Amino acid sequence: MEQDKDLMEKIVSLCKRRGFIFQGSEIYGGLAGTFDFGHFGVALKNNIKNAWWKKFVDGRTDMYGVDAAILMRQEVWQATGHVANFADPMVECQKCKKQFRMDHLLEQSGKTGVVGLTIQQMSDKIKSGSDVVCLECGARNWGEAKQFNMMFQTKVGASEDSSAVSYLRPETAQGMFVNFKNTVDAFHPKLPFGMAQIGKAFRNEITPRDFIFRQREFEQMEIEYFVRPDAWEESFDMWLAQMHEWIEEVGIDVNKTTDLPVSDEDRAFYSQKTIDIEFEYPFGKKELFGLAYRTDYDLNTHKLEYVDEENATKMVPHVIEPSFGLDRAFLAILISTYDESDPERPFLKFKPNIAPVICAVSPLLKNKPELVNYAKDNVYAMLKSEFGRVMWDDNGNIGKRYRRQDEIGTPYCIVVDFDTLGEEKPELKDTVTVRDRDTGTQERVKVSELVSFLKSKL
Ligand code: GAP
Repeated sequence: MEQDKDLMEKIVSLCKRRGFIFQGSEIYGGLAGTFDFGHFGVALKNNIKNAWWKKFVDGRTDMYGVDAAILMRQEVWQATGHVANFADPMVECQKCKKQFRMDHLLEQSGKTGVVGLTIQQMSDKIKSGSDVVCLECGARNWGEAKQFNMMFQTKVGASEDSSAVSYLRPETAQGMFVNFKNTVDAFHPKLPFGMAQIGKAFRNEITPRDFIFRQREFEQMEIEYFVRPDAWEESFDMWLAQMHEWIEEVGIDVNKTTDLPVSDEDRAFYSQKTIDIEFEYPFGKKELFGLAYRTDYDLNTHKLEYVDEENATKMVPHVIEPSFGLDRAFLAILISTYDESDPERPFLKFKPNIAPVICAVSPLLKNKPELVNYAKDNVYAMLKSEFGRVMWDDNGNIGKRYRRQDEIGTPYCIVVDFDTLGEEKPELKDTVTVRDRDTGTQERVKVSELVSFLKSKL
C-alpha cells in the first residue's frame, strides 16, 4: 500500500510538472475538489472525448448528440427526485467542525461491511465505536447525522424569489431526457435509439479526494439508450460489452477492471439494475464507470412518451444508461500507462490514438541553422498541419528531450541530423531518425513517408 501511495504521488507530481493537471485556484491556496487542466491535460481529455464520440455516436447509426444547458429550471430536479434524494449521509466533528461523509469516515477508520448500511446504522457505528475519531483533530465528539444534498444551488436573474432557484446539474443525463421530445420530433428515430452528451457535472461532495477521482466539478460522457420494455436485458448486456471494448481501446488496463453488480440498498434511487465497472486505483478498488437500467423512471417523471409507429400506440420506452466519468477515465489511463520498469526513465505508455502529442520534432543541435531550418520547414510544418498534436522540442540535449517526451507520453521522437542533409552518406539524404518511446529503438524513415508511417500507428 505504501508503494501504491508512492505511485499516486509520482503521478500527481508528473501531472503538475509536465502541465497536465494543476490544483484549482492554486495561487489562492487551492479550492478542494477542483482541478485545472493544462495544455497536455486538455489534449488528453479531448482525445478521450473524441475516442468516445467516435465509437458511440459517429460509429453508430442509432445515436443523437445533445449539448444541453447546464442551468435548468428547478422543476427538472424536483421531478427527478434529485431535490429530495440526491444526498449523502454527513456527520460533523463538534470540536473542529470538519464534516465527513459517513461511509467514507467508517471506511477510513478501518470498518468493513459499510456498504448498504442506513444512515441510522452508520450513525450508531460511528458513535458506539470508540475508535472512530475525527480524522482532522482526533476528537470523538460527533454531531447529529444528516442527509446533505449534493446539488450546488444558484439563482437565475436578479430576483431574490424562490422561483429564481436553480441548480448546477449533478449529472448530464437530465439534459438528454428533457430533450427527448425535441429529438424524437426532429429526427423521428425508431426504437431502439440513444442520445449522447459530454459535459460538466457538479456535486458538492462532502469529502472530495484522491486527486481527480472525486471532484466537485467534473465531466461526464453519458448515453441514454431507449428500448422497448421487454428488450432491456439484451440492451444492457450489449452496452456492458461495448463499455469494456472502449476501455481497452483507450488503453485502460482491463486486468485492473471488474464488474460489480450493485446491491439493492446501494443502487441510485432511479435504477433497477446497476453494474459498476470498478478499477484498481492505487488507493483501492473503486468505481470507474456505471451501467444502469433506469426503467421508464425519467421519461415518466417528465411526463414524456413515444408514439410507436409500428402499431400507432403511445408508450414509454425504458432506458439503459452507460455513464462514463471523463476524469476517472483520465486517471485510469494515467495509472494503466505509467511505466517505471526503468527507474531512470519513467514514462507514460499512452496509445497513439489518445497521446496528447503524437510526435516531437527536433534538430540534433539547435545552434546549427541548416538542421533547424530543415526540421522546421520540411518536417515540423508538414506533420503539424497533418496531425496538429505535434510538438517542436529543441530544449536541452537529445537525451533530455527524450526524457521529457517520455514523461509526456509521446510515442515518437523525430530527429533531423547531419545524415538528413546527406552530407556524408547521400543514401540517407532526406531521412530522419524515429525513436520509439516504448523500446527506445530508432529507425530511419524517409521524410516523404513520415505521414503514412505515423498514420499506420493511429
Ligand atoms: N447519470 C448517472 C450518474 O451520474 P453516477 O454513478 O453518479 O451516475 C456516473 O456517475 C459517473 O460519473 C461515475 O461512474 C464516475 O465515473 C463519474 N463521477 C461521479 N461522481 C464523480 C466525482 N465526484 N468526481 C469525478 N467523477 C465522478
